[in-house]
Amino acid sequence: MPEATPLTGVLGAEVTVGDVRTLDDHDLAELRRLVCEHLVVIIRGQSLSPHEQVELSHRFGPPGDTPFIEPGPDHPEVIMVLKEAADGNAFNFGGAWHSDFSFQAAPPAFTLLYAVDVPPWGGDTVWSSMVAAHDALDPGTLAALHPVTAVHTARDAYAPKMQALHSGLSSMSIVCDDSANDQQLHPLVTTHPETGRDVLFFNRGYVRDLQGLDPDQVPTTLAWLHNHTTDVRFTCRHRWQPGDLAIWDNRSTQHNALNDYAGFRRQLHRTTVAGTVPVSRHRPLVT
Ligand code: SIN
Repeated sequence: MPEATPLTGVLGAEVTVGDVRTLDDHDLAELRRLVCEHLVVIIRGQSLSPHEQVELSHRFGPPGDTPFIEPGPDHPEVIMVLKEAADGNAFNFGGAWHSDFSFQAAPPAFTLLYAVDVPPWGGDTVWSSMVAAHDALDPGTLAALHPVTAVHTARDAYAPKMQALHSGLSSMSIVCDDSANDQQLHPLVTTHPETGRDVLFFNRGYVRDLQGLDPDQVPTTLAWLHNHTTDVRFTCRHRWQPGDLAIWDNRSTQHNALNDYAGFRRQLHRTTVAGTVPVSRHRPLVT
C-alpha cells in the first residue's frame, strides 16, 4: 500500500510504493487518490524506460495530445524534456508558470515526469496549489470570480513569433505555428472532477484575457491572479535526483521549471494523461 509523507503543509507528498511498474490495481487506485489529495507526489528510486512510463501513464488514463513538441520517433507519447550543458542560458522547456496545455479544450488530468539526468544543483521544479489559492480568498472575492471566464491560449508561448525563444534548445524540437493563436474558454473557478474541490484554474502562461469583467479591470486582475496563485505560501519545490518520478494533478496546480543550471545537462521524460473539459459547479457549462 503506498505511504505518503507530506512535503509541506499545503501540497506535495513523497510516496513510497516500491516499484511503480508492479503496482496492482488496488495500489494504483490508492496512488491516484494520493495524487488528487496531495496534488503532487514524488516517488524516488524508480527505473522506468520510456515504454514503461507510457504503460504506467495508460493505467491513469488515455494519453493527452502534445502539440508543438516533436516527439522522438520511438516514443511518440513521451516528451524528452532536455537541455544540454552547451545550451547555456537558453530558455528551458516549462520555464514559466503554467499548467500543462491548459489552452486545450480538455487539458491533461495528470502529468508524469521522470528524471533521467539532472544537474548537480539547480533545475528544481516548483508547483503551486490552486486549491489553496482558491481557499485563501474571502467569500466576496470568490462570488465576484465565479462568473469570470478565463481565455486560455498558447499564442505567447508557441505562436511563430516565439520560435526563436525555443530554438536555443539543441536537443528538443519545438515547432511553433499559428494554431497557437486559438483560444479555449474555461471557468476561472473550476470544480475538480474527482475530489469535488473548487480550484482557481489560472496560470499566467496561457491565461491571456478574462471575460465577464469590466475591460479596464482585466490587466490588473491578471496581474493580481498571477501574484496570488504563485505566492510562496501555496508552493512546494523539488530538487531532482535521477530515478525520481513526479506525478501531478494538472487540474489543480501550476508549475515552473527553474532555469538556474546553465552549463549542466538536464533530461526528464514527460507523459500526460488526458483530462476532461473543465467545469464549475457555480455556473452552467462554458462552451
Ligand atoms: C514541464 O513543464 O512539463 C517541465 C517541468 C520540468 O522540467 O521540471
